[in-house]
Amino acid sequence: MITKNNIFLLFDFIRKQKKISNFHIKYSNNCFVHTKASKLADIIIKKNNIIFQCKIHKSLEEILLILIPILLNNKNFFIGQIGQSLDGKIALNNGKSHYINDKLSIIYLHCLRSMCQAVVVGVNTIIKDNPQLTTRMVKGPNPVRVIIDPSLKLNNNYKIFKDGLSNIIFTHSSIQKKFKNTTVYKLPKKDFTLQIHKKLQLLNFSSVLIEGGATTLSKFIDNKLIDIMQFIISPMIIGSGINSLNLKPISNLDNALRPKNKIYRFGKEIIVSLNF
Ligand SMILES: NC(=O)c1ccc[n+]([C@@H]2O[C@H](COP(=O)([O-])OP(=O)(O)OC[C@H]3O[C@@H](n4cnc5c(N)ncnc54)[C@H](OP(=O)(O)O)[C@@H]3O)[C@@H](O)[C@H]2O)c1
Repeated sequence: MITKNNIFLLFDFIRKQKKISNFHIKYSNNCFVHTKASKLADIIIKKNNIIFQCKIHKSLEEILLILIPILLNNKNFFIGQIGQSLDGKIALNNGKSHYINDKLSIIYLHCLRSMCQAVVVGVNTIIKDNPQLTTRMVKGPNPVRVIIDPSLKLNNNYKIFKDGLSNIIFTHSSIQKKFKNTTVYKLPKKDFTLQIHKKLQLLNFSSVLIEGGATTLSKFIDNKLIDIMQFIISPMIIGSGINSLNLKPISNLDNALRPKNKIYRFGKEIIVSLNF
């Protein structure tokens, strides 16, 4: 049975099957097959005429309906996510952001992390939130944490340097600083975001989550380096604070981004998923 504790086995299974065979997963009417009384749902996986059927805990159903098509369709992908209010805010002006989204969305985020090999954040997110960036709520493998810290502001006091898991820092500073469990790559300042994207591919990270904050995501979008962008929208209005994106200004609405989209009702929240 697929539960929060072993969901990564399903992600791994799908990835491996995709490499070796013509493979698809069938949902009945685009949802998993389950009975009203049961907390379990079935997923049917077809491979070379072999049907693989397993039970899935119902609490994961909404999450898997969004994530499995991504795993099936995209070979390598950079996926951005941001949790925001209805009016597009990700934090208050004082930096406080806990919590805009509810627990289900946090489990969703940890699932996203567990299907990616690297998770990228900007240095301000580390300084303001001191996050762990792990998959502890779903107990999957942890992605390598990648921090963009152009002038090496960080020090060893943050949680990511204390738990023994691996980190990468991208910088263009020449300061010599040592960080625990961390490889520091110095990249040219010119086209820094493109250089980071290239380096992540050279390091063989085939699925990368760009987790924020606003500056980091905006630079990846402005440089057309995001394949899928997901907004996890909480039905609350904050009214002031930090915007979820801050893209280069445009002077004509014809130049606004209008990618293909799918909209999911997700617990009490909404996920808007854009395909660039
Ligand atoms: N709601 C959510 O889902 C979510 C997720 C993550 C973070 N957040 C919130 O977002 C806020 C932080 O966002 P933020 O926009 O201020 O900062 P950020 O994106 O976390 O970090 C931005 C900084 O990182 C460096 N940087 C990142 N990408 C770069 C690039 N491609 N090229 C050059 N430099 C790059 C720059 O550092 P230098 O200034 O040193 O040059 C930049 O100022 C926090 O309040 C956090 O709580 C919310």
